[in-house]
Amino acid sequence: MSEAGKSGASGLAVVIMAAGKGTRLKSKRPKVLHAIGGKPLLAHVIAAASRVVVPQHIFAVIGHEAEQVRAAVASTGVQFVEQTEQRGTGHAIQCARAAIAGYEHVLVLSGDVPLIRPETIERLWDFHCRENAAMTILSAHPANPFGYGRIVRTTQGSAEVEAIVEQKALAPEQEQIGEINSGIYAFRTAALLAHLDKLSNANAHGELYLTDMAGLLRSAGERVVAVEAEDAAEILGANTIAEMMALDARLNAATAARQMAAGVTIFRPETCVIDADVEIAADAIIEPFVQLRGKTTIGTDSVIRSYSVIENCTLGKDVLVRQSCVLADSTLADGARIGPFAHLRPGSEIGENVHVGNFVETKKARLAKGAKANHLSYIGDAEVGEGTNIGAGTITCNYDGVNKFMTRIGKGVFVGSDTTLVAPISVEDGAYIGAGSCITKDVPAGALAVGRGKQINKEGWAAARKAKREKKD
Ligand code: UD1
Ligand code: CA
Repeated sequence: MSEAGKSGASGLAVVIMAAGKGTRLKSKRPKVLHAIGGKPLLAHVIAAASRVVVPQHIFAVIGHEAEQVRAAVASTGVQFVEQTEQRGTGHAIQCARAAIAGYEHVLVLSGDVPLIRPETIERLWDFHCRENAAMTILSAHPANPFGYGRIVRTTQGSAEVEAIVEQKALAPEQEQIGEINSGIYAFRTAALLAHLDKLSNANAHGELYLTDMAGLLRSAGERVVAVEAEDAAEILGANTIAEMMALDARLNAATAARQMAAGVTIFRPETCVIDADVEIAADAIIEPFVQLRGKTTIGTDSVIRSYSVIENCTLGKDVLVRQSCVLADSTLADGARIGPFAHLRPGSEIGENVHVGNFVETKKARLAKGAKANHLSYIGDAEVGEGTNIGAGTITCNYDGVNKFMTRIGKGVFVGSDTTLVAPISVEDGAYIGAGSCITKDVPAGALAVGRGKQINKEGWAAARKAKREKKD
């Protein structure tokens, strides 16, 4: 890496063009906020750029739904430049003029080219420095160049570029050109700024094209070169939903391949959705049709069975998530056993060796080591102590229609089946609750609480009834 890079020296800035509407998506959401691999296109580009320069030197040009875009990526620490009216990629850079003026060089990335790898950005930058160029274009030879700007080299085999020609402006003989413009460039700032105002909008879209800088700089006697990306796949753009989903599929396949290379077993990986930022330890097993979303982390020897969807959760070692569980924003300690058909809602803290069985829903609930809720329960706004057993059909009544209240259950408690616990309520250590109880008062330690109607047995009742009926007939 060159010295102007990660060191944070002010020699190199990055500008990410992200102000466009994305008309071809036909969506109300701005293009750069559409997600692949579980995060917005722009967040992928920022992540790659942040591995090359520190975020204070990265400027995102925002415009369409600027506040929404800013809010979505503000936590990355990048700077923002506003382009209130989107008059083309050249105009986007004009808007960033003041931001980049103090830097010797500037790397320009596109917010809708999300698979770009930091290694490739570095390759572009190193080539730019080595060639001592005013403008260096990252190019590629994709299977289908249609729609992209094409690279017109000065002569065949030369590093130098004559111009970039957009699809709609291609002369018939230029349609054969397979080398495309990735929309990613390096510029010597002084050369860029000296000619930036010469861009014209006399083209098919009536926009200022940044691509025209190639011809402008070349005419001014400046050196314009292009370097080809090693893999055309990483510079593919996302202009339509279909293109974006193709990138998502590629990213997903690459993520699964990376996990498998690190020792994770993924059966039928093409059926699983594994977001880009998910971390899985070696020897974990992922069955077909599993979705691991957001910032999920899975420890070693854990097994995730089919049809489970896990989002923003932290799972320890040797956790078993059986079929068809839905887990969100929760933590599961080592040896926890969940499901099948369990629903852990946000704020569930599942302790070591805890069992949460079928048709159990938890929310903001802490279940301490060895606690069990094996069947058909709702445990919300609750604490359940170590080794406590929650019987089938137990419900914490946490909501009075206005406010939420806590249920506290101590250690070693036995809650009989079909118990309702009307919060706020506390059941102390070692207490027993008889099945079918509606508990409305605190239960002291070691006590037995029974809160149900007394059973009456009427001996001979059935025969008496029968006799009565027969008499009537
Ligand atoms: C652009 C290039 C094309 C290249 C392709 C690669 C131009 C004129 N063409 O075409 O040569 O092959 O990328 O993907 O640059 N943007 C702004 N402000 C604007 C307009 C666009 O910030 O006023 C942003 C967009 O949000 C987007 C990026 O710039 O992230 C590229 O714009 P887009 O309209 O997608 O350009 P392409 O037609 O794909
Ligand atoms: Ca594009």
